[in-house]
Amino acid sequence: MVFRIRDIVTILGLANLVLSAPADSLQRRQSTIVDCLEAASVPVISNSSPNYASEVIPYNLRTPFFPIAAAVPETADQVSSAVICANQFGLKVAARSGGHSYAGFGLGGQDGSLMVDMKKFKYVNLDPVTQIATIGAGTRLGDVSYSLYNLGGRALPHGLCPGVGISGHALHGGYGFASRMWGTTLDTILEMEVVLADGSIVTTSRTENEDLFWALRGAGSSFGIVTKFKLQTLEAPANGVRFTYSFGVPTTGSNISYHVQIFRALQEYAQTTAPKELALRLWTLTDVFEITGVYWGTREDFDTVIAPLVASWPAQTTVVIEEDNWLDTLVAVANGATLPQPLDYTQHDTFLAKSIVAPEPLTSNALTSFFNFHQNSRDAPVPWWVIADLYGGVHSNISSFSLDSASYAVRNSLFTFQLYATTTLPPFPASGIKFMDDLAKSLISAQPETTFTAYPNYIDPTLSASDAHRLYYGSQYQRLLNIKRSVDPMMRFWNPQAIGV
Ligand SMILES: Cc1cc2nc3c(=O)[nH]c(=O)nc-3n(C[C@H](O)[C@H](O)[C@H](O)COP(=O)(O)OP(=O)(O)OC[C@H]3O[C@@H](n4cnc5c(N)ncnc54)[C@H](O)[C@@H]3O)c2cc1C
Ligand SMILES: *[C@@H]1O[C@H](CO)[C@@H](O)[C@H](O)[C@H]1NC(C)=O
Ligand SMILES: *[C@@H]1O[C@H](CO)[C@@H](O)[C@H](O)[C@H]1NC(C)=O
Repeated sequence: MVFRIRDIVTILGLANLVLSAPADSLQRRQSTIVDCLEAASVPVISNSSPNYASEVIPYNLRTPFFPIAAAVPETADQVSSAVICANQFGLKVAARSGGHSYAGFGLGGQDGSLMVDMKKFKYVNLDPVTQIATIGAGTRLGDVSYSLYNLGGRALPHGLCPGVGISGHALHGGYGFASRMWGTTLDTILEMEVVLADGSIVTTSRTENEDLFWALRGAGSSFGIVTKFKLQTLEAPANGVRFTYSFGVPTTGSNISYHVQIFRALQEYAQTTAPKELALRLWTLTDVFEITGVYWGTREDFDTVIAPLVASWPAQTTVVIEEDNWLDTLVAVANGATLPQPLDYTQHDTFLAKSIVAPEPLTSNALTSFFNFHQNSRDAPVPWWVIADLYGGVHSNISSFSLDSASYAVRNSLFTFQLYATTTLPPFPASGIKFMDDLAKSLISAQPETTFTAYPNYIDPTLSASDAHRLYYGSQYQRLLNIKRSVDPMMRFWNPQAIGV
């Protein structure tokens, strides 16, 4: 959805906020932090600047926050100065890259933090010999894929939305249709330049500041502000086969066992057969039930590969299959969006999402309960949908990495479910939050023998900090906490679910 800034300002009541005088103490602190940033030559947007409102509009309009000011640095030294100013005034700091956090964490996840907007760090370079890409921390995924392909036919595994920023995405995972083949975006990180809580600028890699390198790759927002990434690119596949199998959704009302059978067949196929070149997902809402994805290879190979899956399904109504090169496939799966992105972003949504990471197959019981809940949700208080992405299975690259290779903990996912409810524009009703809880519970509670976890790129702000730590990081959490205490004892890098909260 594209809105004009004026509409958004009205929607969020920002006009009032910006025009009304901040509380006294806030006013004093604000002028001092702004003075500090200006004295250090860091470009800054204060909350009385005319462009403050457009600067702080979040992607998710359900979670607006109002930073005390936005630093908009152009160099790593300026990022360092901004962090040092925040130290001086005891402010929490959050970096923003693409601003697509599900919970406004790039704005701080609370009012009054210092936001460090990385949008000016927008560049993609490719070393023609090593094929290593150097990418600025504010670059959006559409620019990453477009540039790498045009610079040398290269590619990375990453998500589908061209507006998502490289930093939030790569520091907390980064799943897309090439991930079963190449891993998450995070798995391609070779090196990062990062500004730490004391303002120092350091390089991290497998051989330099290894603990930080480990922590940043999975929980980056708690450990510093990355300014630059070096990523190992891969040769873009020549061809992508996009496919969608649609299943008859109940004209006759529901037939839950039919859907359960389709999903069970998918799980079986994933665990025995699905090659790494195959991305597969279930896309479902009340009246839609589709298995869709991309195969990176020829149409002929696709037909061979998919045959046993199709043969195991009870029925399907329609199938659509299309082929394109790498870049056009990325455009198609982004619903035709243009890959190169503007510096200032104008798309928004109003939503709550939850994730469920299933480390093992879902039982008939759990699936029956879940699909049954679907079918009974025609009158849900908010429009919703569910995607279940195949992360694992026999040949998956994501699960080929050992758990201790990075703090990222979603290695053993067979399927990662995303439950998403949207009202497009505010308000988002409280009943919608309850509905989403019940939807998640309809699956989780029906399979108590399994320990489900969650994906840290689909931040769910309704979780308590301790639940978020357990679900996102599990057994990795203690080591993360130790590193946090040593590099950021004052909790400078903060959001409501940060390590150490
Ligand atoms: C429309 C849409 C589609 C999506 N599709 C996918 C998908 O296909 N696959 C997938 O895996 N995910 C997907 N996501 C989720 C996405 O990966 C996360 O929301 C991601 O964290 C967003 O990164 P960002 O930089 O745009 O967000 P931001 O809000 O800028 O940042 C997210 C978090 O990272 C921190 N951060 C940002 N920059 C830095 C930095 N330089 N250094 C340290 N910390 C930093 C922020 O403080 C914040 O906590 C999607 C999200 C949306 C809204
Ligand atoms: C996983 O992907 C990486 C590229 O990101 C590749 O170098 C590696 O060989 C792959 N491993 C497996 C087991 O497929
Ligand atoms: C429900 O689905 C099963 C297959 O899973 C099928 O055998 C049965 O006929 C279907 N019933 C209805 C009423 O559609």
